[in-house]
Amino acid sequence: MRSWRSRHEADTREIGARLAVELEPDGVLLLTGDLGAGKTVLVQGLAAALGIDPRQVQSPTFTVVREHQGGQRGLAHIDLYRLEPDEAAALGIEELLAGPGIKAVEWAERLPCPVADGIWLEIRRQGEERSIRERRID
Ligand SMILES: Nc1ncnc2c1ncn2[C@@H]1O[C@H](COP(=O)(O)OP(=O)(O)OP(=O)(O)O)[C@@H](O)[C@H]1O
Ligand SMILES: [Mg+2]
Repeated sequence: MRSWRSRHEADTREIGARLAVELEPDGVLLLTGDLGAGKTVLVQGLAAALGIDPRQVQSPTFTVVREHQGGQRGLAHIDLYRLEPDEAAALGIEELLAGPGIKAVEWAERLPCPVADGIWLEIRRQGEERSIRERRID
């Protein structure tokens, strides 16, 4: 399992960008980490590498799923922080994750369904820095 140290926001963006190649065309990126850990920053780096304007990638207060066009098949950005238990089925998250395009999930530990395949990263604050560790999916 890999791990990285990020000293600046730019480092985290770069790590996200490098994962784009691995995730194409249909991959799932699962992200765990506290508020302000840098999950969205990492997804912005991924988006930029996919030809999507990273400024479009934000953590909107009440939107669980946002789809961005660009590159080959686009990016679905999913933020489960405020997901209500009965919302998951209605939003079709399981189907979305199994579908085409790259999917990036913040607060992935709240996913209502198991994910068999993908890259799972845990981001932790260490003072001004961040440690990013790959986790095994099981
Ligand atoms: N090394 C770093 N990597 C990423 N972000 C950093 C780093 N150092 C400082 N930051 C700052 O930390 C914040 C990370 O915010 P971000 O929105 O990405 O967090 P998040 O994990 O998505 O939080 P939330 O769960 O609220 O969505 C930004 O303000 C960013 O500038
Ligand atoms: Mg976020």
